[in-house]
Amino acid sequence: MSKKLDVVLGLQWGDEGKGKIVDVLASRYPAVARFQGGPNAGHSLHFDGKSFVVRSIPSGIFREGSTNVIGNGVVLDPVTFKEECENILKTGIDPKGKLVISRKAHLILPTHRLLDAAYEAAAGKGKIGSTLKGIGPTYTDKISRHGLRVGDILSPDFRSLFAALKSRHLQLLNDLHFDFDPDKGEAEWMEAIEYLKQFKLVDCEFFVNGWLSEGKGMLAEGAQGSMLDVDYGSYPFVTSSSTTIGGVCTGLGVPPSRVGKVFGIFKAYCTRVGSGPFPTELNDETGETLRRVGHEFGAVTGRPRRCGWLDLVALKYAVMVDGVTDLIMMKSDCLDDFDTIKVCTSYKVGPEGKETNELPYDITAGIEPVYTEFKGWKKDLTGVRTESGLPQEFKDYVKFMEDYLGVPISIISLGPDREATIER
Ligand code: IMO
Ligand code: MG
Repeated sequence: MSKKLDVVLGLQWGDEGKGKIVDVLASRYPAVARFQGGPNAGHSLHFDGKSFVVRSIPSGIFREGSTNVIGNGVVLDPVTFKEECENILKTGIDPKGKLVISRKAHLILPTHRLLDAAYEAAAGKGKIGSTLKGIGPTYTDKISRHGLRVGDILSPDFRSLFAALKSRHLQLLNDLHFDFDPDKGEAEWMEAIEYLKQFKLVDCEFFVNGWLSEGKGMLAEGAQGSMLDVDYGSYPFVTSSSTTIGGVCTGLGVPPSRVGKVFGIFKAYCTRVGSGPFPTELNDETGETLRRVGHEFGAVTGRPRRCGWLDLVALKYAVMVDGVTDLIMMKSDCLDDFDTIKVCTSYKVGPEGKETNELPYDITAGIEPVYTEFKGWKKDLTGVRTESGLPQEFKDYVKFMEDYLGVPISIISLGPDREATIER
């Protein structure tokens, strides 16, 4: 019997802990697929006392016997990809036998990265705070129909296709008066293209639909988060892909009717890297404490993450847009020492301070979060492995969120390790 495609989506501004959860869930799925984003993602995994970060490769790669798919919705930087593969190889796992890549995925060129930097430099104060991995310019070329795709690397015309796109980029860079070396990284990139040729390239729409029809399960792993979605995020301070549920269908070639469970993952507080609105941001000691306790520094760029209280208005919006069926709550153990824990349950907007629990069109200014306070549990949760070991204050807090969001929290993570996970 045909199987459904289950999905894990970040519901906030990224960095919710998708790597850990996909790694935990991957033991139940013979395949894991990425459907959007690229090396702007940094998914961290911890097991057997070791830590890993994956960027473009699905977090299922470390599970024995797993198949991992890089879908057509992903933008692939061959250089980062090669580095990632070499790091995985050091752990004794050969990614070559476990990875298939869509021919229709778009390639990130060295000049896409330059363009990313040039646009950010030109934006001055209005900059997005991009990870500078070339994500935006690559998706721009895809949509404007100028992009190079993975399948093109096997074309006898590949060099001339590359040269044409590069020359287009050089023109743009000149227009932006950006100081750059036009050949920087090109030799390394071409070498990485040769490396990429050793991998199994597929039409992933056939691969994924065929796989599911054979009765084999698959888990789709989102990158970034719903609040960074190009349509539903805090535009223009977003990434350039569809991080919400629709991206799964276009990024892998599966119809909505094939989607099964939608796991929505969120942290018990909020973080954001880069610029853009963040209604519950804490620019005070509490924000500092969250950053320190939660080790909130970027896995890709090392930048300190902005921290704030949990925003249930934004979270409920993401739950709605994504059709979340199961919630996964991460890092509540980071709140163990707080006397009082706050969650934002509505916003006051506009000059009259009208109260609403719907996310407004413009969240850049004039929003005052309204908080509900909870008594802290003041107990170390990191070693707790069963529901019965959880303090009553914590259970009340979880129950409140389930009622507000209308979806059960089926997994609670209390630490970075695979083992620190309670299933309910
Ligand atoms: P994971 O998958 C957090 C943010 C950047 C920037 C904006 C646009 O690890 O959760 P881009 O490089 O995509 O053009 O940057 O999006 N951003 C992320 N923030 N986690 C991520 O990925 C992110 N990927 C991009 O900081 O504000
Ligand atoms: Mg990350």
